[in-house]
Amino acid sequence: MGRSHPSRPLGGLCDFATAARAGSRLGCPSVTVIRYSRAHRLVHWTTAALVLSLLGLGLTMIDSLASWRSTGLVIHKAGGLTVFVLTAFRLGLLATRSRALTPPRPRSVQHAAAIVTHTLLYVLLVIVPLTGWAMQGAAGTPIVLPGGYALPQILSQNIVVYGALREAHGVLTRVLWTLILLHAGAALYHGLIRRDDVLERML
Ligand code: HEM
Ligand code: HEM
Repeated sequence: MGRSHPSRPLGGLCDFATAARAGSRLGCPSVTVIRYSRAHRLVHWTTAALVLSLLGLGLTMIDSLASWRSTGLVIHKAGGLTVFVLTAFRLGLLATRSRALTPPRPRSVQHAAAIVTHTLLYVLLVIVPLTGWAMQGAAGTPIVLPGGYALPQILSQNIVVYGALREAHGVLTRVLWTLILLHAGAALYHGLIRRDDVLERML
């Protein structure tokens, strides 16, 4: 994660995209806390809320014999596919407008660790929903969206492949849990103990 800026004069927060549009890529002249763009922050917190709900729902669902399980599964699949679409959108934003969306950060070991963690998070945000989607194809269970539209199946029916993908989906979600705990822990460490601007940039 980024290092604290040396001083924090009056002036509050600045959206980095705004600064970039104004032609000052290195930030807003009168403030030191440079935030992620509004679109980036919105997608980040929507994705975070969805992913935490899906992890909780997934774990509760697999051990449950209750009648809500089938409804839970429908919600789980719809939520998981939404994460996939949001992540594709976010990666598209990063690929096309990355310089205007992410604040500049000084190079450091912490910065390198943040890049590795963020990259792995992005990889999992793509692979976890994909294994879920592919698993449904291998199980021969089409995914039907509200309105009756059936999504194309990524794989054809194969019970052995289904077993492997089901296992992979479970293992990958545990890796995702671990990374999220590390990531949120680091963000809170910055916000509550170091009291620098890293957490503030995403708020
Ligand atoms: C970021 C997205 C997702 C997350 C975080 C997530 C999380 C989870 C978790 C934690 C489990 C329990 C795994 C275990 O303990 O073995 C699970 C199971 C499952 N997930 Fe996902 N999932 C996501 C996306 C999807 C998608 C897109 C689909 C399908 C379209 C899907 C279909 C399933 C199915 C069918 C199960 C097994 C349910 C059961 O056997 O009771 N998931 N998921
Ligand atoms: C629950 C799932 C979460 C996921 C999947 C997630 C994912 C990500 C990703 C991929 C980035 C990199 C953004 C980029 O540069 O493109 C990021 C940044 C960030 N996240 Fe999260 N996040 C989650 C939860 C949280 C939580 C709970 C917090 C706070 C406690 C948090 C705080 C931050 C902060 C402060 C940054 C900016 C870090 C920096 O600029 O170095 N995130 N997150």
